Order: sequence, then structure tokens, then C-alpha cells
Amino acid sequence: MRRPFVCGNWKMHKTLSESVDLIKALIPQTRDFGQVEVGVAPPYTALAAVKTALDGTDLKLVAQNCHFETQGAFTGEVSIPMLKDVGCDYVLVGHSERRQLFGETDEGVGQKVRAVLDHGLDVIVALGERLQERESGQTLAVVERQFAAAFAEVAGAEWSRVVVAYEPVWAIGTGRTASPDQAQEVHAALRARLTDHGEVAAGVRIQYGGSVKPGNAADLFAQPDIDGGLIGGASLKADDFAAICRAA
Ligand code: PGA
Repeated sequence: MRRPFVCGNWKMHKTLSESVDLIKALIPQTRDFGQVEVGVAPPYTALAAVKTALDGTDLKLVAQNCHFETQGAFTGEVSIPMLKDVGCDYVLVGHSERRQLFGETDEGVGQKVRAVLDHGLDVIVALGERLQERESGQTLAVVERQFAAAFAEVAGAEWSRVVVAYEPVWAIGTGRTASPDQAQEVHAALRARLTDHGEVAAGVRIQYGGSVKPGNAADLFAQPDIDGGLIGGASLKADDFAAICRAA
């Protein structure tokens, strides 16, 4: 049995005090979430304060990005040891906004995945096709290419520290969700690729992301290969995010 994992991606939202307010509004609602793993990915500036607020809870702290190098002259970047030090459990790698707006390549994503695992943190790897790729029938080829590059150097028991997030780019922040069947088709293809890598990989959780809301979450999560979600906009409201976690 794969335990569903719902993660809120706050993106570049919330100041320090707003972040603490949001997590404090969320925590009391998470007491009955025993069946589901729940994480939040605040902006870097709020990680330490949110970590403190999470003390005594089972909620996971997730970083939205990292640099693959341990340290050095990389102005403006944040290393994985720094994220570990502040108490992160996971690092999100390869979000489509990183790929599209900040020029991250498939190979660069693979480099970060390897670095996160080397430093002992768990990794959430986001991948997904753009609208024109879907419309030209390339969806499965694109996600399989992204998958192969991201996990080129992952093996054996390491797969137990991997989560995959399928996020069709055309569904992110647009209000246009993939239908449960559309999402399941891609999740099943990803499950097949995971299964190629052995028993541990076959049990990797695959989140769906892209305009998940309280009203559509249950139908998506009911699909056999959808193991929770990566939630953007709806994770900025404690009640909506809690409702999505309950749906999982
Ligand atoms: P959205 O974002 O829920 O606002 O569509 C999802 C994501 O980008 O992770």
C-alpha cells in the first residue's frame, strides 16, 4: 500500500509572518490526517520559522529548489546542506516554473536529484508536458524523457526516498485540471517506468499537480496510480488545503 502524500507548494507567496499564520491555521486541522503524509513548501525565508511551528507534528518541511553544489561562489543560491540544517525533509526538484522560467534542463534536474539523495534528504521530482506537446500527441514521450534524465543515476533502495509529481504544465495555475482519466493515463505510464527499476521503485508515490482544488481532489485521488497531490494555489488557504488532504 502506498501512503498518499499531499504537499503544498507555496511558491513565491507569503512573508515570514504570513507563513507562520498559515501554518498555525493548518496545524489544528491536520490531527485526523493519519492515513496521509502532508508536507508544506514555504519560501526559503520562512523555512526556519515554519520548522519551529511544525515542532511536535508529523508534517514534512519541503524546500522548493536547491543548488546541486555543497557550497561555493554561487550568489543567490541555497545548498542542500543548508536545507538539511534548517530541518527540511524533502527538496522539490524540476518544477515546471524552474524549467520554463529559469532554464533548468532535464540533465540539470538529474544532477539535483543525485545531489539531494547524496545528502540524505528525500526528493520530489516534478515533470509534465506543455500544452503544445499534449496537443501534438507527445505527452508520454516527453514525461518519459524527463523521467529518464531525472533518475539516470538512481538505483535500488534509493527509490524509497523518491516521490514523482506529474504536473501537466497547461493545468498549473490555470484552473484547467487534467481529467482523472487523462491524469491516470500518464500516472500508469510512469508506474510502468518505475516498475522497470525494480520492486522498491514500483512502490514510489506519484502525486498529481495542476489546479487541484477541494472540489476535484477526491476524483483525482481515486485513480489507482494517483497517490496524492502537489498543490499550488489551493495550499495558500488552510481550509482548502486541509480539505484536499482529507480527500486523500
Ligand atoms: P496549482 O499549482 O495548484 O496552483 O495549479 C500546482 C504546482 O505548480 O505545483
